[in-house]
Amino acid sequence: MKTTTVMLAMIMGTMPFQTGTQAQVKVTGLRCEYRTDPLSVDDAKPRLSWFLDSRERGVEQTAYELLVASSKENLDNDKGDLWETGKVSGDQSNQIVYSGKMLSSRTTCFWKVRVWDNHGHQSAYSKPGFWQMGLLSKSDWKGEWIGLQADTGLDLRPAPYVRKEFDIVKPIRRAQLYMTARGLFIASLNGRKIGNETLSPEWTDYAKRIQYMTYDVTNQIEKGKNCLGVIIGDGWFRGFVGFSKIPNNYGTQTSTLLQLHLEFADGTEQVVCSDASWKGAYGAIAYSDLLMGEHYDARKEPRGWNAPGFDDSKWQNVAVMPEPVAQLVALPTEPVRVTHVLKPKKVTEPRKGTFVFDLGQNFAGYCLMKVKGAAGTEVRLRHAEVLNPDGTIYTENLRRAKATDVYVLKGGSDEVFEPHFTFHGFRYVEVTGYPGKPPVDAIRGCAINTDLPAAGSFTCSDAIVDQLQSNILWSQRGNFISIPTDCPQRDERLGWMGDAQIFVRTASFNMDVSSFMTKWMDDVEDAQSPEGAFKDTSPYIQGNGTDGAPGWGDAGVIVPWYMYRCYGDTRIIERHFDAMKRWMNYMAEANPDHIRNSRRNNDYGDWLSIDAETPKDLLATAFWAHDAKLMSEMARAIGRSEDERSYLDLSGVLKDAFQKKYISADGHVFGETQTGYVLCLAFDLMPDNLRERAAQYLVENIKKRNDHLSTGFIGVKYLNPVLSDNGYLDMAYKLLFNKTFPSWEYPILQGATTIWERWDGWTKEKGFQDAGMNSFNHYSMGSVGEWLYRYVGGIDLDQNAVAYKKIIIHPRPHSGLKFANAEYTSIYGLIRSGWKLAAGKIHLDVGIPPNTSALVYVPTSDPKTVRESGSTKMAGVKFLKEEAGCAVFEVGSGNYKFESMWK
Ligand code: BGC
Repeated sequence: MKTTTVMLAMIMGTMPFQTGTQAQVKVTGLRCEYRTDPLSVDDAKPRLSWFLDSRERGVEQTAYELLVASSKENLDNDKGDLWETGKVSGDQSNQIVYSGKMLSSRTTCFWKVRVWDNHGHQSAYSKPGFWQMGLLSKSDWKGEWIGLQADTGLDLRPAPYVRKEFDIVKPIRRAQLYMTARGLFIASLNGRKIGNETLSPEWTDYAKRIQYMTYDVTNQIEKGKNCLGVIIGDGWFRGFVGFSKIPNNYGTQTSTLLQLHLEFADGTEQVVCSDASWKGAYGAIAYSDLLMGEHYDARKEPRGWNAPGFDDSKWQNVAVMPEPVAQLVALPTEPVRVTHVLKPKKVTEPRKGTFVFDLGQNFAGYCLMKVKGAAGTEVRLRHAEVLNPDGTIYTENLRRAKATDVYVLKGGSDEVFEPHFTFHGFRYVEVTGYPGKPPVDAIRGCAINTDLPAAGSFTCSDAIVDQLQSNILWSQRGNFISIPTDCPQRDERLGWMGDAQIFVRTASFNMDVSSFMTKWMDDVEDAQSPEGAFKDTSPYIQGNGTDGAPGWGDAGVIVPWYMYRCYGDTRIIERHFDAMKRWMNYMAEANPDHIRNSRRNNDYGDWLSIDAETPKDLLATAFWAHDAKLMSEMARAIGRSEDERSYLDLSGVLKDAFQKKYISADGHVFGETQTGYVLCLAFDLMPDNLRERAAQYLVENIKKRNDHLSTGFIGVKYLNPVLSDNGYLDMAYKLLFNKTFPSWEYPILQGATTIWERWDGWTKEKGFQDAGMNSFNHYSMGSVGEWLYRYVGGIDLDQNAVAYKKIIIHPRPHSGLKFANAEYTSIYGLIRSGWKLAAGKIHLDVGIPPNTSALVYVPTSDPKTVRESGSTKMAGVKFLKEEAGCAVFEVGSGNYKFESMWK
């Protein structure tokens, strides 16, 4: 232990007051590239992280020692034949870059770590973790791309089934499958599905980058005959995507590529690959399209096709397709899975023979249906988010997405239908053609999303606010499907950049989005135009939007910055810094007067605001200035000091230009919109001496609207934080609790279970908004979730640190709530902040993970009355100052129970 650390701990009063055996530090939560034991990692130097676990207060890591071995035996014997760090002083416990021996394809790296802390403890070695390297070079791929030549004239086409048998004669030690598709795939081995994902290998720009998946299938291998079977779907590659009217976005022929690595107990190896020897045929899937739905005729199932012994003599030889030029990369995040199964709440029959199941929750996914009846009976499932007044489903807002699944019974015993390569955004499903009256359990809703680990939770004493949080989370689930999308139901479902950047901070509280955004930033860079414009949607497909829209293109800078702030990720900055610079140059070259007038090839402004058009060049220039500041911060983070300076200068120049053009001498913002004011205040564009006045004008604007917001997609994120930071917390809460339109609660009172695209998606006065653009599952307006966590719950990042190494606990209690509880698992571990008001007191329960420290703002009407764990002694708690109605304390890790007089 370093003496300085001990002294610091003593000065801060964070020395332990518990000793004994349970007071040991432990290492848990080993992760590599943000994931637990990943099977395929492409980075030559993956990054490692762990949590410390200790019951003591004020625990900091002072050193670590890490071993990486090529075998479990070596690791068990403490032999790190790949990397031994020795004892490394310091508190770094995440973003540790592997710096051992060069790793080759398929190497499994077993690792463990132990730590020392500032209390003189040394932990035992952690339980071992592992990661496995992927197929790192093109030459590792031995297989060929295979499929069936499709009829290119058809928009909706049948899905090919391909199969191959092989023999296993020796005892097997390990079997691993690498596989991908241009299209989607469902693979099976000996009749059983491989993996539990759906929509693999997901969406990338297939012309540039194709993801592959890795599975351990050792347990599915049989002695003797084995059979691999694959169904190839259209997916994003060849099906309908977005609002372009034609399919075939990336090609006309689907295909799959796979190789099964068989490692035998005797040390020998064999690889079974996709090649010309495979057989193929069409089967039960007449078509399965993401937007249109699936048609499945169970009578045409080639029964037993994916198990050994099936007679495939009538099947055709597969076609070997040309190799793509695209790079093959391992899926760097979690796959898409069914994460929730929903039971119907009720079934109605609004018209004879038309049954409507209400699943009680709007979501993205599909239905599983149980049915029994005569062969050839056709059951039709149509999906919808909302109902017409007569109880029938409302589908006009789906535009060209048919969202219809058809199942044709094979007859006989009970049948179960589960569509293969489609999903819908819905709460209600209309069932027609069902033999007899369907029982309520005939349908199950399967909700899908990228299966990211949950990160946080927020609850409070107000049921409607809790519903708001639930709606935000469900909209995140429904729109985090491989990429961050706008909506999951209509013919759109695109990676709209504005939506993503506005929501990313909220998203990061709900789920660990580190690996998801790492993957998506590659999509963003792949989509960038040669001139440097970030597209409005990423991945980009022809005919689906343009580029450079203010607040949309800027996501290319804002998202990596958030990844740096939230996870301390500098690699994402390094990886995309040149692309970000190209974007900055793209704007600078065209706008020498520093007002962002040109090269806005598209302009949504403050999209879907309510009677409040923020001047578009103002919004554009504000984002440019914001980008410049973030660029300078990111340049500093990666040691590019010249860029740091030049972007700082640029941000100053842009601020001046902005002020001259848009801010009057008395603090009025041109256009007089709420969004204009909040952007100036949030992006620090307002002269300091005018901030107070500007905040007043903002509040006057809200008051003129009878205490209502008017912000659209862009302004809404900043509205409540800006009000709270500038002395108008009451107004922020008033907006939160507003029950009348436009507000967050109005849709909830109309029964919303997800966030609506528009404040007025449906109103009592006007009914449904324009069906041409009226989604009931769009997360952008839900960006207030960030305010719930940061301000109501009170968990925030310190301005001067990243990744919650320094935490701010600063709840803003309000008489409108009796309590609020926020939790968030940071890269250091669990942070808790929960408060309750009772009998003139506030109780504040705080949890700070080891290896971090926090400033705790204890709200109080009398700082002298603050107690911690019932006492004024407060071990490990140091009083710092009084500020903004709070007593502010500095604490190390641990659990704390504060109480104080409150109003
Ligand atoms: C999408 C949005 C997107 C917008 C651009 C809409 O059609 O659904 O969420 O950001 O277009 O303004």
